[in-house]
Amino acid sequence: MGKTIHIGPAATFFYRDIGSGPAVILLHGFAEDGATWDNLAGPLSARCRLIIPDLPGISSIEDLADAVKTLLDLLYIDKCIMIGHSMGGYISLAFAEKYPDRLTALGLFHSTAYPDSEEKKAIRRKSIEFIRKNGADLFIRQSTPALFGQYTHQHRPQLIDAMIDRYIGFSPDTLIAWYQAMITRPDRTAALRGFHGPVLFVIGEEDTIIPLQSSLEQSHLPAVSHIHLVKNAGHEGMHEAPGPCNDILHDFINFVQQYEQDHLHHRRNLRLR
Ligand code: MLT
Repeated sequence: MGKTIHIGPAATFFYRDIGSGPAVILLHGFAEDGATWDNLAGPLSARCRLIIPDLPGISSIEDLADAVKTLLDLLYIDKCIMIGHSMGGYISLAFAEKYPDRLTALGLFHSTAYPDSEEKKAIRRKSIEFIRKNGADLFIRQSTPALFGQYTHQHRPQLIDAMIDRYIGFSPDTLIAWYQAMITRPDRTAALRGFHGPVLFVIGEEDTIIPLQSSLEQSHLPAVSHIHLVKNAGHEGMHEAPGPCNDILHDFINFVQQYEQDHLHHRRNLRLR
């Protein structure tokens, strides 16, 4: 089921609310929308309540996290598992920093707690200029192929064309706002280190945007980490390897449920002593 939420005069956004069970929020990445999760949403919604927003064009990662919090409040969702793809992961980390009690677990799906390097900030500023000058369509055409791994380029190039077709009409203002949000986000390794619940790392073996090495460096920071390397995938595992990604999310959700039960049991035992 899809609905629209108004979170103030400047922001209105659409979200999907499907399935029933433990609440799982799926946050999409830059230049995408909630439909990016379509390959995984069907199987997951058989056992979870999935909340999948189309994020609004807000130019701060913290304000985007607040928009997600407003959505959860509106839906009376007290606690959830939050999984963010790339920019969605930056938002999840900001959310974990601000509202840790609202999360049972966190997932970084091709994402990172590191901030932008100066070099990356400069590239983003150039991209903003490019979008202002040439519009979003040319930007989407030129930038989308880099999201996919070598295997996809060689064996399934139709996935790249499909993504270009889907996002060719993207709002230039939203792209620019999200670039500005990503440029100004801080280092959130402390949020990762301090997070109380399990953290999932989904790493694309051929991802050139969030390289394997940087994900591996961060994966030891949380107290409990699940680390998965997705073969034949770049930055778009949900499109490039939906079967393995689906299994990874299922296993992680099972683990989180068991982890929660064990901790509840442990806390009860402590109180009884
Ligand atoms: C994304 O997929 O959200 C972006 O590639 C993230 C980034 O550029 O840092």
